Amino acid sequence: MIVSGIALVTGASRGIGRAVALELAARGFEVVATMREPAAGADLPGRAAALGGRLRVAALDVDRPATIAIPDGIRVLVNNAGIECANLPVEAQPAEDWRRVFETNVFGLAEVTRRAVPALRAAGGGVVCNVTSSSLLAPVPFYAVYRASKAAVAALGESLRAELAPLGIRVLEVLPGPIDTDMLAGSARTPEACAFPEYRPAAEALHAARTALDDMVTAPAEAARRIVDAILDDDAPLRVACDPMGEAMLSGSDAAGAESRLAAFIAGLAGRPAR
Ligand SMILES: NC(=O)c1ccc[n+]([C@@H]2O[C@H](COP(=O)([O-])OP(=O)(O)OC[C@H]3O[C@@H](n4cnc5c(N)ncnc54)[C@H](OP(=O)(O)O)[C@@H]3O)[C@@H](O)[C@H]2O)c1
Repeated sequence: MIVSGIALVTGASRGIGRAVALELAARGFEVVATMREPAAGADLPGRAAALGGRLRVAALDVDRPATIAIPDGIRVLVNNAGIECANLPVEAQPAEDWRRVFETNVFGLAEVTRRAVPALRAAGGGVVCNVTSSSLLAPVPFYAVYRASKAAVAALGESLRAELAPLGIRVLEVLPGPIDTDMLAGSARTPEACAFPEYRPAAEALHAARTALDDMVTAPAEAARRIVDAILDDDAPLRVACDPMGEAMLSGSDAAGAESRLAAFIAGLAGRPAR
C-alpha cells in the first residue's frame, strides 16, 4: 500500500505496540498511538518527531467500548493489545481467567475492528493487522487460555480476510516468536502448574524450554520493522512472522497453507450451482 492517512495501534504504551507505532510514524503514517493510560506515551510524540514522523497519543482500553474512537482517515489498524494469565493446567484454571483474557484478546479486538471497518472503507481501504502468537503453532501445555484466545483471533482474521478483500481492506496476522518485552519477561517465571504434582514434570519441561528462549529473543524495534514491512506489502500472505523463531515455526507449519485452502474454498463456492 502507499503510505497515507492514519494508522491506529492498540496497546502502544510499551512493548511491540510502542515500537510499531514509532515505526509507522517513521515510515510516514500519521499515527494514533492508543493506550489505557496516555501518560505512559508522553514521550512518544517527541520520539516520533525525532524520526521525522507525526504521532499523537489517545486513550483506548479495548475492554471499555466507550473509549473506542476510530478517527476518520484511518488506513491501518494494528490490533496489538494483549494479555496472558497464570500458566495452569486446564482443570485448575479459573473461569475468570478465561473471561478476562478473552475480553481483551478477542472481544475487545473484535469490537475495535468492527468499529474500524466502516472508517477504513470510507478512507478507500487499508490494512487490519492482528497480532497473535507463534505459540499457536505448537501444543504448549499450560497456555490453553492464551493460545485459545489467539486461535480465536486467527479464525476471525481468516474470515475477515475473505470478507474484506473485495472492499480493498487487507487482513494480516502477525505471529511473533519471543520478542524482548514485559510480556516475555513475565513468562520467565516458574509456571504456576509446577504446584500440581501430577503436572510438575511437564511444567518443569516447559520452564526449561522457556528459559532456552532467552538466547533467541528479538528486539521490539526489529519486530516492528518486519511488521510494518508486511503492512506495506500488498503481496504479503495472511500469516507472517516478525522474528527468526516465529519465521522458522511458521514455515514448518500447516498454518502457512491457510491461504491456498481459503482460495480453494472460495473457488469451490464459486463453482457451486446457484440455488
Ligand atoms: N513478546 C512476545 O514474545 C510475544 C509473543 C507472541 C505474541 N505476543 C503478542 O504481542 C502483543 C504485544 O505484546 P507485548 O509483548 O508487547 O506485551 P506487553 O509488553 O505486555 O504490552 C502489552 C500491551 O497491551 C496493552 N493492553 C493490555 N490490556 C489492554 C487493554 N484492555 N486495552 C488496551 N491496551 C491493553 C498494555 O497496556 P498497559 O501498559 O496499559 O498494560 C501494553 O501496551 C500481544 O498481543 C501479545 O500477545 C507477544
